Amino acid sequence: MRSNVYIETYGCQMNVADSELVMGILKNSGYEITKDINNADVVLMNTCSIRENAEQRIYGRLGNFKNLKTGKSNLVVGILGCMAERLRKDLIEEKKIVDIVIGPDEYRKLPEFISVAINGEKGIGVQLSRTETYDDIIPYREDGLQAWISVMRGCDKFCTFCVVPFTRGRERSRALDSIVNEVKQLSEREFREVTLLGQNVNSYLDGNNDFADLLAAAASVDKKIRIRFTTSHPQDLSDKLLYTIAEYPNICNYIHLPVQSGSNRVLQLMNRTYTIEHYLKLIEKAKQIIPGVSFSTDIISGFPTETYEDHLMTLEVMRQVKYDGAYMFKYSAREGTKAYKMGDDVPEDVKTKRLQEIIDLQQQISSEKNQQLVGMEEIILVEGVSRKSDNFLAGRTDTNKVAIVPLDEKIKTGDYVRIKINKATSATLFGDIIEIIDAGENGLALTA
Ligand code: SAH
Ligand code: SF4
Ligand code: F3S
Repeated sequence: MRSNVYIETYGCQMNVADSELVMGILKNSGYEITKDINNADVVLMNTCSIRENAEQRIYGRLGNFKNLKTGKSNLVVGILGCMAERLRKDLIEEKKIVDIVIGPDEYRKLPEFISVAINGEKGIGVQLSRTETYDDIIPYREDGLQAWISVMRGCDKFCTFCVVPFTRGRERSRALDSIVNEVKQLSEREFREVTLLGQNVNSYLDGNNDFADLLAAAASVDKKIRIRFTTSHPQDLSDKLLYTIAEYPNICNYIHLPVQSGSNRVLQLMNRTYTIEHYLKLIEKAKQIIPGVSFSTDIISGFPTETYEDHLMTLEVMRQVKYDGAYMFKYSAREGTKAYKMGDDVPEDVKTKRLQEIIDLQQQISSEKNQQLVGMEEIILVEGVSRKSDNFLAGRTDTNKVAIVPLDEKIKTGDYVRIKINKATSATLFGDIIEIIDAGENGLALTA
């Protein structure tokens, strides 16, 4: 009998990509993938440890599985991903419903672990590897427009607040050829957007090829495929990378460049290895080299010892850079990290208040930036009919903003169209269609 596997994914895009790898591995071993948990013989959760509340949510969900298991005693429950690495044995011992605990570098063993678990034995595989990149595994992806590709694994930066270097192990890059081949396969399946993923893509290295070389190679596969990437660490973003983004029309003019804090004192305690002056210079340089570039960021509020003055400096950086978007978090102390030992001394209500000020400011900036686009032209990739109304199409700009245009019979999902923005809110642009663009012929440059 064939077993049906159901998988639920939490955390960052790397986990989304890993779940596709896991499904690829399981399909190769004869398992079926199901989207219906009630139809599953094996239930897997690909988990995230980045903040306390991420783990709490997953524990809550595990509680639900308990009921499922009561009704179906041979159901196999497995924990994958970052929590598997961080909590290991505790998960099997404390939460009796878990049969398999398997970390990010041991997914090849999953079929074996499942068959052992079906016979009633528990399995733990949490070794981290210096070399595993799953280069030879073809991830299982449904048809669509957008795909994630992991280009490297692990992280060597050791920011003092972060669990990732512990849960994902040392940094290692995939072979450039295998990544380019994956983009080719996606091109044949008519995908239109690929996001290259790594915790710090700027340190990608395969032989003599750095990340700029990889981006150029990926962008050369198919002019109709937009290339995005995340995340860039501000310490080692090279000029060569900026020139490469500028050179290829199908590499999006959009850089996610997490600043974390506006205070040099806090940045140093975070081990971020750059100063705000360096960061702002980088932003200026990127603006000069890549016309129309925009930025998004990550910000942590309430890091240990953060004062009100430090907080004001963060707000000031936000005003200076004018990010298109920001992911904003309250500091969450994680056992085993260096910052954990610094104490968690900013009171919860102060963290909440500061975070709210950060969110409010970003909202205001996003709305102002979007207003400035009214009257301008943008190219969008049409993703389908708008969620709110069948009379409109929704797409995304180069800088990842959602844009809504009136329905037009000539336009299909996956087309690129030039639009003129006529209205904007903080989250959405509205526009009129000017023309459909033949991206294969003319490329995606606005000036083409
Ligand atoms: N490698 C990427 C992303 C890491 S995780 C990078 O360096 O940017 C995504 C974001 O989660 C981080 O940028 C940080 O802002 C946030 N984060 C990580 N650990 C955290 C913690 N302990 N508390 C609050 N936010 C955290
Ligand atoms: Fe975590 Fe820093 Fe690595 Fe990002 S660069 S994953 S924040 S240690
Ligand atoms: Fe979470 Fe692990 Fe990603 S901790 S953010 S799933 S790398």
